[in-house]
Amino acid sequence: MNNTKKIALITGANKGIGLETARQLGKQEIIVLLGAHDLKKGEAAASELRQEGIDARALEIDVSQPASVRKSVGNIEREFGRLDILINNAGVMIDDDKKKVSEQTLEAWRKTFDTNLFGLIDTTQAFLPLLRKSSAGRIVNLSSILGSITYHATPGSPVYDSKMPAYNVSKSAVNAYTVQLAYELKDSKIKVNAAHPGWVKTEMGGEGATMEITDGAKTSVALATLGDDGPNGTYVHMGETLPW
Ligand SMILES: NC(=O)c1ccc[n+]([C@@H]2O[C@H](COP(=O)([O-])OP(=O)(O)OC[C@H]3O[C@@H](n4cnc5c(N)ncnc54)[C@H](OP(=O)(O)O)[C@@H]3O)[C@@H](O)[C@H]2O)c1
Repeated sequence: MNNTKKIALITGANKGIGLETARQLGKQEIIVLLGAHDLKKGEAAASELRQEGIDARALEIDVSQPASVRKSVGNIEREFGRLDILINNAGVMIDDDKKKVSEQTLEAWRKTFDTNLFGLIDTTQAFLPLLRKSSAGRIVNLSSILGSITYHATPGSPVYDSKMPAYNVSKSAVNAYTVQLAYELKDSKIKVNAAHPGWVKTEMGGEGATMEITDGAKTSVALATLGDDGPNGTYVHMGETLPW
């Protein structure tokens, strides 16, 4: 058991924003557990970070599979006995951009919600007992500016014409869940906040994205390392509050 260094779990950390978030937290002497639903990919990513001098370990976790979530809790409990930081980063975007809002299949809605919302809720609830054992637990929920209902309802806003409904609504729900959970945690040592990383050059963000991955991880890292006087129940991008 390691009692001095902080321990962070980042889900969906084998690539993209999750991997970079692990790298930046690892450089702050935090032990990073790289969650991956394909353990081989997780091992490869962890090995890449270890070569950079980071204490990185792969952890198998498919957030949409309750048995996998519970197994990963057991593994962390046995090894460390607590968790200091949980970054709910795993996410999918599977809307068909050639279809209208009303034409997206129910299957796409269900698959999106299984990972982006139900998986996030299940992972959070399963790890809460270990986060309560931390002296300052931090939960970061990866949302998106595309989850802003205010912007979606406002012609001319940055996302008004970006209607990928299953993804967008899953992130609105992540925001709503963040507010609900923040209420429960308001008198505890744990803080939970929702992050918009920016439009980032990853597999999901695509080549047209405007932000480099290094910057795309910064909001998650900032929320994961908040001091005791930091906010709880907010929705932010690079320190700026977004409209719900
Ligand atoms: N990129 C952007 O512009 C942008 C903007 C706003 C918000 N976000 C959010 O930021 C987060 C990271 O996005 P990204 O751009 O880094 O995406 P990405 O490159 O597509 O990476 C997504 C990660 O999630 C993993 N994943 C998917 N389903 C999973 C499951 N059921 N269980 C465990 N892991 C799972 C993927 O694993 P595999 O590689 O094995 O599939 C991958 O590691 C997401 O929540 C996304 O919605 C991204």
